[in-house]
Amino acid sequence: MFYENKNFFRNETKTTTFKNPKSIVTSKMAKVVFYEIEEWEKDYVRERMPGYELEFHEEKLDQNNSVTARNADAVAVFIYSEITKELLYKLPDLKLIATMSTGFDHIDIKEAKGRSVLVSNVPSYGENTVAEHTFALILTLSRKIVESVERTKRGDFSLDGLRGFDLKGKTIGVVGTGKIGKHVIRMAKGFEMNIIAYDAYPSNDYAEQMGYRYVSLDELLSSSDIITLHAPLTDQTHHIISCQNMPKVKKGAILINTARGGLIETECIINGLKEKILSAVGLDVLEDECFIREEKQLLATEFLKTCDMKVILQEHMLIDQDNVIVTPHNAFNSKEALQRILDTSIENIKKFFEGTAVNVVN
Ligand code: NAI
Repeated sequence: MFYENKNFFRNETKTTTFKNPKSIVTSKMAKVVFYEIEEWEKDYVRERMPGYELEFHEEKLDQNNSVTARNADAVAVFIYSEITKELLYKLPDLKLIATMSTGFDHIDIKEAKGRSVLVSNVPSYGENTVAEHTFALILTLSRKIVESVERTKRGDFSLDGLRGFDLKGKTIGVVGTGKIGKHVIRMAKGFEMNIIAYDAYPSNDYAEQMGYRYVSLDELLSSSDIITLHAPLTDQTHHIISCQNMPKVKKGAILINTARGGLIETECIINGLKEKILSAVGLDVLEDECFIREEKQLLATEFLKTCDMKVILQEHMLIDQDNVIVTPHNAFNSKEALQRILDTSIENIKKFFEGTAVNVVN
C-alpha cells in the first residue's frame, strides 16, 4: 500500500524535470496501452499522440488481462487497475506507468522503482472539481435534498422534517490544506463560514491571506460543525478519524470525506451516528473500495481475496442509513477535469519518451 512508503507520506510529486536514462525507446516506436478509457477519450488521445503505437482497453488492467500489456513500453491506467508486484513481474518491457489520477495508492510504487519503472501521476486536475463535489455533499445534507426530492417525486409537498440549516456562520474544519483543501476554503469563504484547518505542514501565509487559522486536530474535531477531509492516505493519516477520537467530535457535526476511505475507521462512523455525535455523513470514498455494486460480486473469488468482509458489511450498513449519503468515488468526474487528466497524462507520456520525465512519483 502507498502509505507504507514513508518517502511519499506527503503525497508530494516531483514536478522537476530530469533526464530519463531508461527512455531509450523513441516516441516513434513506443507502444502505449490505455486502460479504463472511454470511447470519447480514444479519439482525444489519438489526435494528440501521432507517431505512437496506441492500444485502448475499456476494462481495468489486472492479472487476467496482463497479456494485453505484455509488450507495452507504457501503460496509462486509472485507480481500479491494481498494479501489484505480481503484475509488474509479467510486464518486463514496461518503462512507465502513467496513472490518470492524483492518487497512486493502487500502484506498488516501491516495486516499480525496484524494476526501474517510473510512475507518473496527475498532480492537479480537479482541485475545484473535488471541492465542488465536497460542497455538493455538504449542501445535500444541510438542505436535506435527497429526502426533499424523493418526497416531491411521490407527489408529497409537505415540509415536515425537511428543515435544514444555513452554512453561513457555521464552522468548517478542513483537514489537509493542499490544492483541494485550499479550494474548499475559498468556497467556504463565499458561504461566509468560519474556517479552521489542520495540516501537518500548515500554509501559514495562505492562512493569513484568507483569514483562517490552524488548530490541533483535537480542537478542529471539537469545534467544527462540518469536518471535511482532504489529506492523502499515509501512515500518519490512516484512520485519522478513529474510534479513539470520535468522542472528541462536536455533537451534531457533519463528516465529509472526498479524499481516501482509509482516513476513517468505518466502524466508528456507525457508532458516531448511533450515539448522535455525528448528525450526518457524506462520503465519496469508502475504506474498502471494492464495496458492493452488485450482490453477485460477493460470489467472486477475486472479490473475497481483496476485500475485508467486515468492512464491506459495515459500509453496506452505512449506505442504508438515512443520514448518510455515498457517491461512488465520483468527485473527480466532471467533463473539464477529465480533459485536464488526459492532457496531463499525454504530456507525462510524451515528455518521458523525449527523455525529460515530469510528474514522477517514484
Ligand atoms: P495535496 O497533496 O495538494 O494536499 C494534501 C494536503 O494534506 C497537504 O497540504 C499536506 O500537507 C496534507 N497532509 C499530509 N499529511 C498530513 C497529515 N498527516 N495530517 C494532516 N495533513 C496532512 O492533495 P490534493 O490535491 O489536495 O488532494 C487531497 C486528496 O484528495 C488526495 O490525496 C486524494 O486522496 C484525494 N482525491 C480524491 C478524489 C476523488 O475523486 N474523490 C480526486 C482527487 C484527489
